[in-house]
Amino acid sequence: MDILCEEEFRALGWEVRVTTEDGSYGEKGLVTQALLAELERRMPGRKLFACGPNPMLKAVGQLAAEFKLPAELSLDEHMGCGLGVCLTCVIPVKTGTGWEYQRTCTEGPVFDSRQIAWEAEA
Ligand code: FES
Repeated sequence: MDILCEEEFRALGWEVRVTTEDGSYGEKGLVTQALLAELERRMPGRKLFACGPNPMLKAVGQLAAEFKLPAELSLDEHMGCGLGVCLTCVIPVKTGTGWEYQRTCTEGPVFDSRQIAWEAEA
């Protein structure tokens, strides 16, 4: 199991909560459960940053919307070329009239959670 940067974040003085789905390290459960508890006990005026699997990012985006917080999500789509040519990395992004595909390799990979058209995902 690789928990990245835990000690580095602690060394910066940040409170760090680690979760694992099976409880083998840190708290047992989904990270979004820990996030919900944090959002419920803390004052507003924060911003969320997340990377990871899309279902988790979608849940983080929903919590951000629920708590009226901005969130930046880094999408880990499969990338073929990394140059904007192959279109294997596209995600649906909202536009003024609906949504369009954008490339995570060139337009992202970080998107404002409110931009992502999760409902258009297959
Ligand atoms: S990885 Fe090829 S277009 Fe994004």
